[in-house]
Amino acid sequence: MDHLAKRVEDHYAAENLLARIDAALADLGAPPTDPDALKPVDEFHTGGREATEALLSHLDIHPGMRVLDIGAGIGGTARLIARAYKVHVTGVDLTRSYVDVAKALNSRTGMDDDVTMMVGSALDLPVAAGSFDLAVMLHVGMNIDDKPHLMHEVARVLKPGGHFALFDVMRDRDDGPLAFPVPWSTLPETSFVDHPLAYVTAAEGAGLVPEHRRERRDFTLAFFDRVMKAAAEKGQPPLGIHLLMGATAGEKIRNYVANVAAHRIAPVEMIFRKPG
Ligand SMILES: C[S@@+](CC[C@H](N)C(=O)[O-])C[C@H]1O[C@@H](n2cnc3c(N)ncnc32)[C@H](O)[C@@H]1O
Repeated sequence: MDHLAKRVEDHYAAENLLARIDAALADLGAPPTDPDALKPVDEFHTGGREATEALLSHLDIHPGMRVLDIGAGIGGTARLIARAYKVHVTGVDLTRSYVDVAKALNSRTGMDDDVTMMVGSALDLPVAAGSFDLAVMLHVGMNIDDKPHLMHEVARVLKPGGHFALFDVMRDRDDGPLAFPVPWSTLPETSFVDHPLAYVTAAEGAGLVPEHRRERRDFTLAFFDRVMKAAAEKGQPPLGIHLLMGATAGEKIRNYVANVAAHRIAPVEMIFRKPG
């Protein structure tokens, strides 16, 4: 594993994550075998399930397709796609402890046959060329410095006619320094937030054709406004993505929202197609 990959894994590695998720589920009286009960914690990106469904709504996904989730985390998006569309999803993630939790959650929700989880890098995907109809990637590119390499690797594993749908945090119109820590990085050295144009140029360089682009700044600010008002009224819910962010979870989220509000960054959806 290279130096950057090690630092990224160290950033995300969370101790006793499964036990803490289980304690929160028990606190809520939620059945640990219900995939819907996991939604507050297993979609580690802006807007959670709502944002995933918004991204997927631009795609035509049929039963039997093969889907790849790049940087799949603890597998929430992969399980959601597998259930909603009756497809098989392969999830790849650099962080071994997340992959272990994802596998445990797949088993207990009865989804071992629907979702395969693997440890691996987006820059060297452990899958065959031309094997996926769709690749998705949610909030991962901020940890990847080499976007052209990423796009070439995605283009390699897609079938001709396949799609790549991503939802990443990108630079907005203010180029000033970001407030750190943020959810994907404690320090500027491991944060690689690029302009939307860098993604498009990298994708086109790999032979992918842009089909869709939507900025989600307003959605993001409205989402966190709702979350923060609810927390102020009722306290922090036991189950949430704070379980994945360690002791500085609150600071990371506050900095993230401040960076978005100041137009330094914004989450963006993009979809590309591999011709064929
Ligand atoms: C913010 S989390 C998002 C996880 C998941 N996509 C989700 O939305 O729930 C970022 C994830 O990307 C993974 N990651 C970062 N760089 C990666 C790389 N080069 N290859 C594979 N996974 C990577 C991290 O281990 C982490 O699980």
